[in-house]
Amino acid sequence: MRRAPSLGVVLAGSVLLGSCGSDVQSVLAPGGIQSRQIAYLAWLLFGFGAVVLTIVIAAVWLAIRGSPRIRGLLAQENAVIALGIAFPAVTLTLLLGYGVWLMRSHLDLSHTRDAVDIEVVGEQWWWRVTYSGADGTPVASANEIRIPVGMPVTFTLKAADVIHSFWVPSLGGKVDMIPGRTARLRLTAERPGIYRGQCAEYCGGPHALMAFEVVAMPAADYAAWLQRATRPATTPASEIARRGQSLFLATGCGACHTVRGTSAAGTLGPDLTHIGARRSIGIDTLPLTRENLVRFITDGQHIKPGNLMPEFRVLQPPELEALASYLLSLKVTDRHG
Ligand code: CUA
Repeated sequence: MRRAPSLGVVLAGSVLLGSCGSDVQSVLAPGGIQSRQIAYLAWLLFGFGAVVLTIVIAAVWLAIRGSPRIRGLLAQENAVIALGIAFPAVTLTLLLGYGVWLMRSHLDLSHTRDAVDIEVVGEQWWWRVTYSGADGTPVASANEIRIPVGMPVTFTLKAADVIHSFWVPSLGGKVDMIPGRTARLRLTAERPGIYRGQCAEYCGGPHALMAFEVVAMPAADYAAWLQRATRPATTPASEIARRGQSLFLATGCGACHTVRGTSAAGTLGPDLTHIGARRSIGIDTLPLTRENLVRFITDGQHIKPGNLMPEFRVLQPPELEALASYLLSLKVTDRHG
């Protein structure tokens, strides 16, 4: 005989399911126009499914326990045609039509004057983000996307190697990034906040780690931020950061990474021009701190297995300290003009 799950198992399950509803990454906690429509449609389908399930259970119960007359009615060919063919055909068509109508804003990618364009390329295993800068020049970043609140943002989505999928559940639907193809997605955040995104297509080893953050900020703050991000990197002000910069250039970091305004111009890895202003390193695997930068430089294969960056274990602690100081100093603030 099978035993019913114990209360403990049920409670643990509920807690686990409950934790899925965290606000930063949840279809059911919409923070934008498109995600609100999706959440609405999801609840509508859930409600409709509940009604159908109730009808089916009632029909089964009547077919077993009902009076001979009702059982006779249910057994008629007409009942099968009405409930089994006509009802699903009509209701599913209505639901599909309503869904397409509701989602029409997702399909409308006509260029509006206030739309913001951001290109995101999925790579094994990080996100290459390119903004159209204040004066139209491309501004490269990685693993963190900033958007203005209340303005439609058009994402141009590409893949560099294998199929990835761009998904920010609290802001909208998911779109596959397929090598050789360009997809577009429009999202409009309605409230400021940090929304978590995740690659939603298995793309190799650290796929599950391939996350990112979307920082939705008031439009004026966004404009000011983009203005700052367009500028080249700051020149290191402290002695230790200057040593870090020399090391950065001498160790060959610039072969893969760009720091605009220096000779480092590699494009294989993330652009580090303003890395000090980002919130995390290693595709949102670690918060950006001095310790984590050192960890990533020396032990990156444990943090993001299979990534292209070799581990620089030859560097001595003082050198790592200088490198981290330099990278953390790479942020343009208003005070520096
Ligand atoms: Cu990229 Cu999964």
